[in-house]
Amino acid sequence: MRKIAVAMAKGGVGKTTTAVNLAYGLASRGKRVLLVDCDTQGQAAKFLGEKPLYGLYEFITERQENGQIIARNETLHPARQNLWLLDGGIRLVELKNWLGEQPRDIRQTVLAQKLVPKDGALDYLIFDCAPGWDVLSVNILMAATEVLCPVALQGPSLEGLKTFFRYLQSAQKLNSDLRLEYILPTMFDRRTRHSHEMFNQLKKNFSRQMCDPIHYNVRLSEAPALGRTIFEYRARAQGAYDYENLVRRILNNGS
Ligand SMILES: Nc1ncnc2c1ncn2[C@@H]1O[C@H](COP(=O)(O)OP(=O)(O)OP(=O)(O)O)[C@@H](O)[C@H]1O
Ligand SMILES: [Mg+2]
Repeated sequence: MRKIAVAMAKGGVGKTTTAVNLAYGLASRGKRVLLVDCDTQGQAAKFLGEKPLYGLYEFITERQENGQIIARNETLHPARQNLWLLDGGIRLVELKNWLGEQPRDIRQTVLAQKLVPKDGALDYLIFDCAPGWDVLSVNILMAATEVLCPVALQGPSLEGLKTFFRYLQSAQKLNSDLRLEYILPTMFDRRTRHSHEMFNQLKKNFSRQMCDPIHYNVRLSEAPALGRTIFEYRARAQGAYDYENLVRRILNNGS
């Protein structure tokens, strides 16, 4: 089973868009995928048009809001064929408090310990990370082995990247299996020189990890409001083409 964290400390760079469309793309090719929403915004469910009853909070604590015990497999929400969702949302605030109360030596690895599916039950775990950095982010990077880092080719600079890599290095000291495998340029606007410059700069620094860019595509920003992936909304849009390309790259394991 591959465990991919879609992570980047900066907000609004396309993490959720990538996690959701990648998860769906893999699932539609017959892979069994669990998408884990690690953000208090709970956007992954909205992007998929789903309203799960339970989520990551219940999965980890094995408790419902009213204190009753819940079995872990009941917290996995079937979102599409081959695609399950562990919902995020506001309950993750409580989950972070709960994690903070755990003994220091296990606090960072609770998720990794609990997220061990039965052999062959799943092919991919995809984590949609929140912006910023906290006890939950650390838990994700302890549970993942591959990091996919979306970088928006917009704004003043590649800001936030250095800070994020420092976080990543500190996580790698605790999880030696964790590798930065993919740098995904997002919101690429082929008309602007700025986009090309940023793309080239990234490519120079990360030739192995560099993926083909996800173009800026208005269809990608329309699809979530309808609760659909880009493949369901506009299969012929540039965004669908770009994410299909990413799915292929992941399936070929970077080749
Ligand atoms: N390639 C793209 N072209 C156009 N719009 C996009 C593209 N990728 C994402 N968007 C839009 O940009 C906004 C931010 O994207 P998204 O929510 O995926 O980012 P995020 O990194 O998950 O944000 P956050 O850090 O808040 O979780 C959304 O409205 C999304 O629909
Ligand atoms: Mg997000």
